[in-house]
Amino acid sequence: MAKLWEGRFSGSQNADADAFNRSIAFDSRMYAQDIEGSIAHASMLGSQGIIPQQDASDIVSALQGILSDLDSGKLEIDPQAEDIHSFVENELVARLGRRAKSLHTARSRNDQVALDFRLFAKQAMTDVQNLLEDLLKAIVAKARTCTDALMPGYTHLQRAQPVTYAHWLLAYACMFERDMTRVQSALKAADVCPLGSGALAGTTFPIDRQETAFALGFGSVCSNSMDGVSDRDFAADALYALSMIQTHLSRMSEEIILQCSWEFGFVTLDDGFCTGSSIMPQKKNPDIAELVRGKTGRVNGNLIGLLTVLKGLPLAYNKDMQEDKEGLFDSFDTVSTSLKLFAPMIETMTLNKEAMRQAAQRGFINATDCADALAKKGVPFREAYNITGNLVRWAIGHGKTLETMTLDEYRQFSDLFDESIFDAVNLDNCLNRRTSAGGPSQQSVQAQLQAWQQKGY
Ligand code: ARG
Repeated sequence: MAKLWEGRFSGSQNADADAFNRSIAFDSRMYAQDIEGSIAHASMLGSQGIIPQQDASDIVSALQGILSDLDSGKLEIDPQAEDIHSFVENELVARLGRRAKSLHTARSRNDQVALDFRLFAKQAMTDVQNLLEDLLKAIVAKARTCTDALMPGYTHLQRAQPVTYAHWLLAYACMFERDMTRVQSALKAADVCPLGSGALAGTTFPIDRQETAFALGFGSVCSNSMDGVSDRDFAADALYALSMIQTHLSRMSEEIILQCSWEFGFVTLDDGFCTGSSIMPQKKNPDIAELVRGKTGRVNGNLIGLLTVLKGLPLAYNKDMQEDKEGLFDSFDTVSTSLKLFAPMIETMTLNKEAMRQAAQRGFINATDCADALAKKGVPFREAYNITGNLVRWAIGHGKTLETMTLDEYRQFSDLFDESIFDAVNLDNCLNRRTSAGGPSQQSVQAQLQAWQQKGY
């Protein structure tokens, strides 16, 4: 296929260099954005009298034809084209002849590709926002079913203090809610129109940048043409937002993988999200959660990849920037697929509340409450803490728990202990007296759920 720039050249391109230079294999994904941008540009050229109005409207119709033929599969992308911009322009010239050649007046592929990529990023961030909403709905709905599901909360993966499965789920809801704000801010960063920046130094033609920006749905136009063609911050912002989402999904995956093991047995994943083993007939493996965890590597890699591409680039456009797209495409695809799988995986998993409660009964997760009970009787907390530490050591040695020790056994450690200690170390009391705002008691979790409901979840 003819090169857009061949006029300057007498020799032909080295075949390997040609292949190396080509981006059509991946930027063809932006054909709709490219054509949409060209339609806005052509209309503006017409309305500004830069090209004849008739030519502008013929170019627009031909571009619309190319778009619908690509959508329907009637027209196929030529894999030998240099990039999507060359492909669309060549196709336009093939359909419309010489008049099509005025489309590129007052434009460069540099502002064109920046535009296409921003349009892509805006759509991608909007899609991810919707998927995050679906996941939040699934998490909050599940939490409503288990505010009574007492389980141990962990630190260092050691049983620590009582929480509920609902409280645990809502902790992840908080993470995904923060992700939403990062996605929105990446969307805002992408919402600036670079069209009209030209190659790097604007144009001598009387273009109307507001008109194209408005037609394409942008909130504003970039204020410096050199920045306009070389700014990829919006892509880095999007990649960071996507990395944080995948990181949160990965942490949640890790916990679900533990929770569905025989060791924990807190949840059972639906068969639809598991696979078996080729040799061990008993196996049901949480592959989807594991893959989501594993794919965090590539998503984080894409972020570092782009930052590294950008770090030494002089202004303005450099071909290095062609390396900006695949990472974002990949992170967007990976995170979207992970989000799409996660919502139904959470929805369909069954909770084993009995196993959670049994785990809560081992591990002295009420030890803080025992120390608190002494502290409430006037013992300074640090002293109460030490007394309880000795008491727990004794209980472990004698195969007892704080619930099964007798009052006499308690009184070996402090004569301030009385019958009320059994009420203090009762697990349900330990949970439900944690009524501090944001705490795990059923009352506090109901308040969290109410707040989620007010936000539409
Ligand atoms: N394929 C290029 C990219 O993705 C398009 C811009 C080409 N501009 C240039 N001056 N060669 O960045």
